[in-house]
Amino acid sequence: MKKVNVVFGTVYGSAQFTAETIIKTIAKLGFSTKLWQPNELQGYIPAQDELLIVVCSTTGQGDIPEDIAPWFNELKTNAPYLPSLKYSLIGLGDSSYETFCGAIKQFDELFTELGAKPLLDKLEIDACETMEPEIEANTWIASWHNAVTSANAA
Ligand SMILES: Cc1cc2nc3c(=O)[nH]c(=O)nc-3n(C[C@H](O)[C@H](O)[C@H](O)COP(=O)(O)O)c2cc1C
Repeated sequence: MKKVNVVFGTVYGSAQFTAETIIKTIAKLGFSTKLWQPNELQGYIPAQDELLIVVCSTTGQGDIPEDIAPWFNELKTNAPYLPSLKYSLIGLGDSSYETFCGAIKQFDELFTELGAKPLLDKLEIDACETMEPEIEANTWIASWHNAVTSANAA
């Protein structure tokens, strides 16, 4: 089975906790995993024969958190061509803001520019609806796993 890389961007820690929760579930499904800390991301170009999940909250007005912004900007600048990469996105946001889950939308656009393909529709978790994003994300992992299996991406 393919290795699964999970990357997160957070301001207050919810996206980190969500990433830590789902990676345990993914490991239990039998995948080898790596949880990347934001300070490890410099120079990281996702391997195209591995799976990538980005878990990211939104700050400011639709902005990317400071911890993951350098990696986002690096990929945007260097623009590696990643046509075989399968990515999945989990956004944490709050629908009372105008740009709901703006950061994860920026990641979606970036990976599309790099030629990568979404494995399934992104999950956008609304803080107005739940105080426990990790539970919603963990449930979504079942859909993610189905997508991996049906795309024969494992
Ligand atoms: C100052 C501030 C600005 C925010 N801006 C947005 C925003 O523009 N869009 C959005 O969807 N959520 C926004 N949020 C909501 C956060 O993304 C949401 O609370 C999220 O769960 C925080 O996750 P974190 O703990 O991983 O940072 C904002 C929250 C704060 C405190």
